[in-house]
Amino acid sequence: MNLKLRIWRQKNANDTGGFFEFEATDISEDMSFLEMMDVVNQQLVKKDIDVIEFDHDCREGICGMCSMVINGAAHGPQRGVTTCQLHMRSFKDGDTITIEPFRAKSFPVVKDLKVDRSAFDRIQEAGGYISVDTGNAPDAHSIPVGKAEADRSFMAAACIGCGACVAACQNSSAMLFTGAKVAQYALLPQGQPEREKRVLNMVRTMDDMGFGNCTNTGACEMACPKEISLENIALMNREFLKASTSER
Ligand code: SF4
Ligand code: FES
Repeated sequence: MNLKLRIWRQKNANDTGGFFEFEATDISEDMSFLEMMDVVNQQLVKKDIDVIEFDHDCREGICGMCSMVINGAAHGPQRGVTTCQLHMRSFKDGDTITIEPFRAKSFPVVKDLKVDRSAFDRIQEAGGYISVDTGNAPDAHSIPVGKAEADRSFMAAACIGCGACVAACQNSSAMLFTGAKVAQYALLPQGQPEREKRVLNMVRTMDDMGFGNCTNTGACEMACPKEISLENIALMNREFLKASTSER
């Protein structure tokens, strides 16, 4: 298929940037979206035009690197998939596709479609860990965990830190991401020693990084490729309230 692409190009965070239009030819419907971008870059090289920079790594929905807004939707039109899992059969011959970076003040553009999401790393390192003694791994069944809590924790742990929730939110809120990371540990016995310190530090770091607050539009949950539930935000708010009360 042949496509008309409108791709955001920006030299760096200070450049104003703008759309660049390109006619991509001979795109197979079996290609992933990133494979289509690879072909576009090959076609640009043949025309002696700078390649388009975009982030990617695993290309199988695990690493969370492939941050693109496609036709106005973070990770594109399909629910529950990352950009790398989106296939060109979702589009038609002759379509115009608009491709932009994830936009948020806390995710400055590095170049073209590539953004700096290290603000997420700061939140994660503020509390996204547990204390463990060194030595041999304990037997798997030595700490009993209820099935319901294990399932909820596992679902929260599915967050891949991609940032689509921030890009989709009118407030650029990172509460779905932070809520998932807080919930993952708060629900398990292993997460109890740092439970209060964790939520206080992660939420305060999230605010320091310039992310906005949640106003319950649910746009983050809709855009999330791992379908992380808004319930994690409610859990985080309860955890934060309890921890800040007992801090006084
Ligand atoms: S909550 Fe979903 S959208 Fe947000 S960072 Fe995690 S996986 Fe990505
Ligand atoms: S490239 Fe890893 S999730 Fe898309």
